[in-house]
Amino acid sequence: MGKTLLVVSDKGGVGKSTYVANTASMLVNKAKSVIILKTDKNNDLFSWNEKRQGHGLTTVTVYEDGNVSKEINRLSKLCDVLIVDCPGHDSLEFRSALTASDIMITLLKASSDFESETLTSVTEKVRMAQKSNSTLQPWVLLTRINPSKPRHIKAAIELDKLLRSDSVWIQPLKTRMSELDVFESACNEGAGVHDVCRASSLTKAKAQIELLAQEIGIV
Ligand SMILES: Nc1ncnc2c1ncn2[C@@H]1O[C@H](COP(=O)(O)OP(=O)(O)O)[C@@H](O)[C@H]1O
Ligand SMILES: [Mg+2]
Repeated sequence: MGKTLLVVSDKGGVGKSTYVANTASMLVNKAKSVIILKTDKNNDLFSWNEKRQGHGLTTVTVYEDGNVSKEINRLSKLCDVLIVDCPGHDSLEFRSALTASDIMITLLKASSDFESETLTSVTEKVRMAQKSNSTLQPWVLLTRINPSKPRHIKAAIELDKLLRSDSVWIQPLKTRMSELDVFESACNEGAGVHDVCRASSLTKAKAQIELLAQEIGIV
């Protein structure tokens, strides 16, 4: 039985699909079997996987289905890691997936109040779901931190401190994801940073994806 990693947010465009694609690519490069279950309406991960095929990269099975908790129970038996990409808003898919997943990550950019303010509603849903799924491990991933913007770094440190000060909050991962062109340019090619040979900040990008996977226990 594989581990199920649920990737969510209460806002679109926070970086879920980018994180999912880069993590899936890292795992297949380590010879892990991975399935992506997409529950949102857009086709980004289907077309990403088609590009992988076109470029001769190891493909990742991508499924789409409405009955999310049933599909999680079925698909998690068929792979090492099942990654569930949720819509960027409250949805039946999100609530259903919370009841059947092992690990949940919610992504946000700490420097944006529009994003950090979504944490209250995500936290409420997670705490409710934990009443029936007591083994769920929820995490906040602080992402899209531009290393050359002091405001981004300060906001991430402050939000991290705030979340750690009260266990009612979903706790932040120690590893954070920077805003790096290579995360985006790799995805545009149907790749993840682990498929790329040369690019600026590549070592840093690969380290972040691997450290995150270690921290949540999927490698
Ligand atoms: N860590 C990152 N560094 C640079 N660009 C990023 C990063 N994460 C996401 N992006 C970019 O932000 C945009 C939204 O990301 P996406 O993964 O589609 O968000 P979501 O799936 O949450 O809607 C895309 O253009 C993507 O390339
Ligand atoms: Mg997406």
